[in-house]
Amino acid sequence: MFDSLRSVLRFRKLEFDPGRRRLNSCADVGDLRRLARKRLPAGVFDYIDGGAEDELTLVGNERAYQTLGFRPRVLRDVSAIDPACMLLGRPTPLPLVLAPTGFTRVADPLGELAVARAAARLGIPCTLSTMGTRSIEEVAEASDSVAWGAEGERRLWFQVYVWKDRELLADMIERAAAARYEALVVTVDAPQLGRRERDVRRGMELPPKLGLGTIVDGVLRPSWTWQFLRSDPIVFANVASSSRGDNKPDGTRAVVLSEHLAEQFDPSLSWDDIDWLRSQWDGKLIVKGVQTVEDALLCAERGVDAVCLSNHGGRQLDGAPAPIDLVAPCRQALGDSIEIIADGGVRRGSDMVKARALGADAVMAGRPYLYALGAAGELGVDWLLDFFDDGMRRTMALCGAVTVEDIEPDLLTRLV
Ligand code: GLV
Repeated sequence: MFDSLRSVLRFRKLEFDPGRRRLNSCADVGDLRRLARKRLPAGVFDYIDGGAEDELTLVGNERAYQTLGFRPRVLRDVSAIDPACMLLGRPTPLPLVLAPTGFTRVADPLGELAVARAAARLGIPCTLSTMGTRSIEEVAEASDSVAWGAEGERRLWFQVYVWKDRELLADMIERAAAARYEALVVTVDAPQLGRRERDVRRGMELPPKLGLGTIVDGVLRPSWTWQFLRSDPIVFANVASSSRGDNKPDGTRAVVLSEHLAEQFDPSLSWDDIDWLRSQWDGKLIVKGVQTVEDALLCAERGVDAVCLSNHGGRQLDGAPAPIDLVAPCRQALGDSIEIIADGGVRRGSDMVKARALGADAVMAGRPYLYALGAAGELGVDWLLDFFDDGMRRTMALCGAVTVEDIEPDLLTRLV
C-alpha cells in the first residue's frame, strides 16, 4: 500500500529560506498582495494599495485589461517564442518597465536597491522616483553590481516632479546625467496631490512614526517592525543627498505626507516646463501622466521621446480613464512618431500582450513589485518578473504569436 501511495504522491522539497517558502505558495500578483497585507503594518499596506477618493480609477485600471480577450490563432509552430522588442531605440527582453514609486523602503529595507538589481538581472529598465528612498548614485551602483544581459548597457530612468524649487530639480537632473541614467520621466498628473482617503482616515504619516496605532500594528507584524527598527531611517534620499540648502524636505521631519507634498508640488506646472526640462536634459525624455489624445499629440509636437499614458495608478484624479483604453486612439493619432508606454493595471504577462496588440511599445508596473517586496523582499521581485516573463511567453504561444511583431490588433476582442 505504501508503495502505491509513494508512486502517486509528490511533495515539494522542504524549503528552509522563509522568503522562498512564502513564494512557493504564490501563484499570482493577488497572492503577493495577500502576503504583503499580512506582513506590512496596515497603514503602510494601505498607502501602497490605496487610490484616490472612491478608488474607481484604481479598480478601473485592472478591470479595463479584464474586458479584453484574445482571438487565438493555432497551428503556427510556437516552439521558439521571443517576447523581446525595442524600447527607446534599444533592445529589451520584455516590453516592461518598472514604474517609479515613492517611499519604497517602507515595503522592504533594501527598497529601490532590490528593485534595481532584480530589473538588471532581467535586463529591463527601472525608474527611480524623486520621492525614492535610495539615492540616484546608490541605485546606479546597485544596478551596475549585476551583470547586465545581452546588451551589457544598463538602463535606469529617473522620475521627476516639477517641484517649486527648480534649482533643487536642476541639481537632481544633473546628478542623474552624471550617473548615466538613460531617460528622464516627468510626472505631469500631479499639479496637486490626489486625496488618498485610506491615508486620510489613518492620519498616515511617512516615514512611519511610533505612535500607539503603530505600536499595536508593530506587535502584530514583528518581522517588519524588527527590520524597520534595525535599518537606517527612511528619508527622501535624493533630496537629502542634494547639495542644495538646508530647507530640504528630506522626509526626516515628522510631517503628515499630504501637507508636506502639498508644499512641493507646483500648481503652475505647464508645457513651458516641458521645454525647460528638454533644455536641461540631453537624454530621452518621457512625459508620464498623459490622459488624452490631445495631450499625447502636444507631447509629440514638443519633441518628447515617449508618452506614458498613466493616471498615477489611480492615486490622483478619480474618474480618470484607464490607460489601456487610451492606447489605440493615441497610436492612431500619433502614428509611429513617438513611443507609447501604458502604466497601471498590469497584473499578468498577458496584459503586456494586450497592450502591444493595441499599439503600446511597453507597459509600466509599480504596485505589483511593492507587493512582491512586502511579500518576500528582493526574492519576491525576482519571482514577479519571472511570473510576468513566463505569462507573456505562454500567452504568445497560446495565441500563435511567435514574436512581438506577430502581436497584431486583430489578436484582441472585447469580452464584455
Ligand atoms: C507617489 O508618487 C505617490 O503616489 O504616493
